[in-house]
Amino acid sequence: MTIHIGAKPGQIAETVLMPGDPYRARWAAETFLDAPELVNEVRGMLGYTGTWRGNRVTIQGSGMGMPSLSIYANELIRDYGAQTLIRIGSCGGMQEKVKVRDIVIAMSASSISTPSLGIFKEFNFAPCADWSLLSAAHAAAQTRDVGVHVGGIYSADVFYDERPDLNEQMTRHGILGVEMEAAELYNLAARHGRRALAILTVSDHLITGEALPSEQRERSFGDMVEIALEAAFA
Ligand code: ADE
Repeated sequence: MTIHIGAKPGQIAETVLMPGDPYRARWAAETFLDAPELVNEVRGMLGYTGTWRGNRVTIQGSGMGMPSLSIYANELIRDYGAQTLIRIGSCGGMQEKVKVRDIVIAMSASSISTPSLGIFKEFNFAPCADWSLLSAAHAAAQTRDVGVHVGGIYSADVFYDERPDLNEQMTRHGILGVEMEAAELYNLAARHGRRALAILTVSDHLITGEALPSEQRERSFGDMVEIALEAAFA
């Protein structure tokens, strides 16, 4: 057990999917895993371990924002030996071609700051995805009836951003979408020699103002979970 995860040694799989929302962790585990077992409920941040096509998988909520994800990813990596960590979450679209309900696979994650700022200081480290996961996720996504985009995303440190000029610059530089966790997941994976990827469904759009009601997110969320599982065990 760690400070924030109550699982016993051996109860966490080497492959971990990380949705921000703990209820999404429960839904994904109950929908896609065989024999899902609740392994963490500390602070309500639910985590389940089960099997998918015979492979052990943990689905553990990360909470919102990089400080929260950093707590769970650090403990999963350092205390439980997680080797492959895939964020499954949502993002705001930042390009016209990226439509609500589409899937974005994050090749890189830009940021203003992350919890790793103390290490990098003025150096602009470029957090990037694991190539084997990225290419397998892209292949898995292409077999589905869903729009898929691969490219750079932006991990923001605030949801209600008072810097509209920054979003314009992100769009101008080809950033596909904005979310709040991937950059630090990629930093941690690089630091500890693990594989990481963020797969995101577009839940809202910064240019069109469109937003998906929460009950309509399930379909694209399900596609994303299956793509993550196929990529993890490709
Ligand atoms: N996650 C989903 N939509 C987002 C947005 N518009 N900004 C930041 N994170 C998000």
